[in-house]
Amino acid sequence: MDRALIKSIAEVTKREPNFWSQPLEYDRRGASHRLFQYPAMMLPVVQRKLIELIKTAAPATHSLLDPFMGSGTALVAGMLNGLDCYGQDINPLSILLAKVKVEALDHPAYKIAAAALQVRVKLDNCLTAAVEFPKLSKWFEPVVVQELSKLVRAIRQEDNQTTRRLFWVTLAETIRLTSNDRTSTFKLHARPLDEIATRETSPLTTFQQLLKQNIKDIALYATQLTEQGTLQQHTYSGKVCIRVVDSSLEIERPVAASATQPGFDLLVSSPPYGDNRTTVPYGQHAFLPLQWIDFDDIDPAVSRASLRTTHEIDNQSLGGKQSTVTTQDEIRFSTLSPTFKANLLALRQSKPLETKKVVGFVRDLNAVLERCAKALKTNGYMVWTIGNRKVGGVEVQNNLILQELLRHHQVILLQTIERSIKNKRMARRNKTSATMMKEEILIFRKH
Ligand SMILES: C[S@@+](CC[C@H](N)C(=O)[O-])C[C@H]1O[C@@H](n2cnc3c(N)ncnc32)[C@H](O)[C@@H]1O
Repeated sequence: MDRALIKSIAEVTKREPNFWSQPLEYDRRGASHRLFQYPAMMLPVVQRKLIELIKTAAPATHSLLDPFMGSGTALVAGMLNGLDCYGQDINPLSILLAKVKVEALDHPAYKIAAAALQVRVKLDNCLTAAVEFPKLSKWFEPVVVQELSKLVRAIRQEDNQTTRRLFWVTLAETIRLTSNDRTSTFKLHARPLDEIATRETSPLTTFQQLLKQNIKDIALYATQLTEQGTLQQHTYSGKVCIRVVDSSLEIERPVAASATQPGFDLLVSSPPYGDNRTTVPYGQHAFLPLQWIDFDDIDPAVSRASLRTTHEIDNQSLGGKQSTVTTQDEIRFSTLSPTFKANLLALRQSKPLETKKVVGFVRDLNAVLERCAKALKTNGYMVWTIGNRKVGGVEVQNNLILQELLRHHQVILLQTIERSIKNKRMARRNKTSATMMKEEILIFRKH
């Protein structure tokens, strides 16, 4: 099984050496990848190919787990391979986005609903804001507030919840493009005042264009699923389950697990790299869009308390709870991972105040890995896309730390694929950390 998989990966690399970094057949319209610019999205075509190769080598692969689901790339790639897909995340925007990608497949109905929405927007003469939150006027110009409010009121009047979710996601991307927040970074960072004063944006026009594009992209994805024989009456034939949950505390179990060996057949995921407060703040990036979206439409388990501050969601993320880091954690993980020990030692010399950050991240990552390893069937594969990062000039080798931690759970590295990240949307360097411009896809098997 392993040999067949390694061979098939080598064949892809031989055929197209740059496939894992920049595949030629990559089409941004596919797999609903354009719905919202979520930070650090994986490439659907790469993940789809890996799953396909694993399924060929191990035909008994039926279920997939992504404990750090983000925009839902792994789930979508899993569906294109006909798998039952389970995703978890703590970010309400990730939940909404993934639900739309995997559930909203009835594109003919959306065209009708979109036309009705436009009529409601046109008839709306109300000038009051549909939402209130601190610093609304810092992040949105008065005319933008008015137009977004019309859209919010029109979306609320749509009867079908799946359609409403598609509209909310379209609104989220509209907000990303029309607020005063810069689009060049994931952090909340207002544009210069002179730029705001001269900038011309119209949420109504942007929303209309995006919605048209989204409906087309969903139709394309539905066609791809139909070609696989897994879509009937706009419904996916397999199981799809999306949950708002901290994966360090809980991992979902697949519903149809075999009685003899319960668990997942495959894990495909990409964790945060430990820079959730600095370079890639998933929560901060979601903060403005979430202010405008009705949480009842996302999931019963999401709470508006996650918007109490701009850091709330990122504090829930791996390594976000630094106040609970103890010396015991340092000792425990130094024993479990020699690389962690060496990185920590170097960091203590260069930037001692940054050590807690790294210890907290590794502690939380290990909690997820432990649960995932338990939830995976023996012989099941894990595919992790992970990058290293620099803290205080020291490279934290996430790739090696992950391997060393997983080895304690009999999950052993099989193959490494390197990929360069050309267009990462983030500051290359900031005061305390820098993210590397390459990452690795690590393939493991549980023994
Ligand atoms: C690298 S991103 C995943 C991106 C995803 N692979 C994609 O293609 O869109 C990591 C995700 O992990 C989530 N996350 C961070 N800590 C988490 C935790 N403790 N439990 C569940 N999800 C978490 C973040 O909200 C973020 O969406």
